[in-house]
This record gives sequence, structure tokens and C-alpha cells, in this order.
Amino acid sequence: MIYVEGLTKVFGDFTAVGDLTFQVTDGEIFGLLGPNGAGKTSTLRMLSCLISKTSGDARIDDLSIGNKEDSKKIRRIIGLVAENVGLYEELSAYKNLDFYGKLYGLTETQRKENVRRLLEEFDLWEVRDRPVATFSKGMKQKVAIARALAHDPKVLFLDEPTANLDPEAAKIVRDLILNLRKEGKTIFLNTHNLDEAQRICDKVGILKTKLIALGSPEQLKVSLRADKTVIALDEVNDKVLGAIRTVSSSEIEIDGKKLTVDVRNPQTENPILIKAITSAGGNIVAVTQLSPTMEEVYLKAVREKK
Ligand SMILES: Nc1ncnc2c1ncn2[C@@H]1O[C@H](COP(=O)(O)OP(=O)(O)OP(=O)(O)O)[C@@H](O)[C@H]1O
Ligand SMILES: [Mg+2]
Repeated sequence: MIYVEGLTKVFGDFTAVGDLTFQVTDGEIFGLLGPNGAGKTSTLRMLSCLISKTSGDARIDDLSIGNKEDSKKIRRIIGLVAENVGLYEELSAYKNLDFYGKLYGLTETQRKENVRRLLEEFDLWEVRDRPVATFSKGMKQKVAIARALAHDPKVLFLDEPTANLDPEAAKIVRDLILNLRKEGKTIFLNTHNLDEAQRICDKVGILKTKLIALGSPEQLKVSLRADKTVIALDEVNDKVLGAIRTVSSSEIEIDGKKLTVDVRNPQTENPILIKAITSAGGNIVAVTQLSPTMEEVYLKAVREKK
């Protein structure tokens, strides 16, 4: 479990991360989403004990990042893939992992077992002896994730794990992340990729120095009220518009013979809308539901906080 409470980072007189409070449950994929400079990397660096916090606190498995002894223990139960993955390019994939295992004090037997299991799982066993310098970006990213798992951490922190990967490599990395959740790992990732957040995250936090929205992708969509119902009529007149206004307080967009109405809950609100229109003599040709993409939800949240 990751508990974050009032976590703040100030550089000089500039607040990079302000008063974050949220929790990540064991076995969950949590995504921190935000524009450039939002404070995602700074948050991840505080949580993985690479930089100190200014105020507030965070606890991982009840160990506090602000406590020196605890932060040593935290480092042993987490794995980290930073923005700049920093592999030893001249070393083979096998040696990169083995070296990390040594740093974490694993025995030779443990290392043999873990490194082989990970390289096989990540489909890198065949190329294990090649220097990482000869690998593609996608392969390097897989080595970096495998390496971060060499000491079998409970929690994995990933800073934009699919940035700069082509769609196929990005999918491979996403699938690996989903598999890690199946194995019971807790995953905390930063991402710019809204679609990715929607597809793989159980919970998403939208960050812009402060946390401006938090919840499952579905909850965010509902809380930001972004569903729309489009009603096509054979004629739009004041009687129909008046009828809609009696049952809905949301703004009505009019585009020729099409009306778009914001709805919070389409299942309960659409029948009411349809009934009101029909009772007012409106002739409905078609009704379409527009569900917002994560991108629309995200942009709405970020713009509203400007
Ligand atoms: N060591 C530092 N000293 C001073 N300012 C810093 C430092 N590290 C980060 N910042 C500032 O804090 C803010 C947040 O940076 P951070 O790297 O956390 O953002 P980010 O959300 O990861 O952005 P990106 O999407 O570009 O990776 C930025 O304005 C950055 O310039
Ligand atoms: Mg960053």
C-alpha cells in the first residue's frame, strides 16, 4: 500500500509538487498523468527516495520516505525505471540484470534463477549475451524493466515506460506491465499517454503541481460529466428545446437538426429526454451516445485548473 499525504516538493522558491494526497492499493496499476513540468518525475523521485520531500509524507508498506532507516528499507522493496533508463550499454542483457542482483545482495543461486526467469518472461533469453548497445529502444526498455525486477520488488515505479516506443513495442511493454499486476505487483507509472492510462490503469491521478482529479478512468469520466447524448430530429423548434430545458439543466448545442446534450448518467437521463421531446411533438430520427475519451476528460480537467 502506498499512502501519500500532503506531499510537497519545493525547489528554491518554486513549488514543483504541492500537497498531494492519494493512496495506491496493493496489486493496482496507478497512473500519474499530467502535462510537461506537472511534477510527475519529482513525485516519483520522492516516492522512490531519490530526492527528499519538503513537507508532507508518504509511506510504502508503512515505511516512511522521510525516515532515513525506512528509506533504506523502501529501496529494497521497490524497483525503478527512470526517464533515462541508464543501462550499462557495453554489458550484455544478462550481465545488466546480474549486476543489479549483486547490488541488492542476492546470492548467486538467487540471481541465476531470477535473471533467467525474467529474461525468459520478457522474451530476451535468446539475446541475453548481446551487449545492450546493440538493442532497439523497445528491447532496452524491456531490459530496464527486467533489471528493476531483479530483486523481486513488491512495487515498481516506471517513469513514462512507453515514451518513444513504436506502437508495437509500446503494446509489448504494456502487456508486460499487465502481467506484472497479475503476479501481484503494485505498479506506479507516469505517463503522457492518455489512451494508455485509460487502457491499463486501475486508478489515475491528474497532476498539475497539485492533484486536480483522482479516480478510476470510469469515475473520472463520470465526475467530469463528459458524456454527451446526440439527438437527431427531423425538425428542431422552440417547443422541443423548451421541453428539453424542463428536464435538463445542461447547455444544449444545436447543429442543424442535431442536438447535443451533456448527460451525467445516460441510462437514466436518455429515456427522460426522449420522452420530453416526443411529448412536445418532436420526431426523433436517431439517438447516439458519445462517451468521452480519456483525452477529453484530461484536457477538461487541465483547462479548468488554469
Ligand atoms: N532539481 C530541480 N531543481 C529545480 N527545479 C526542478 C528540479 N527538478 C524539477 N524541477 C522543476 O519542477 C517542475 C516539475 O518537474 P518534473 O520533472 O517533476 O515534471 P514532469 O511532470 O515529470 O514533466 P515531464 O512531463 O516534462 O517529464 C519543473 O518546472 C522543473 O523545472
Ligand atoms: Mg518527467
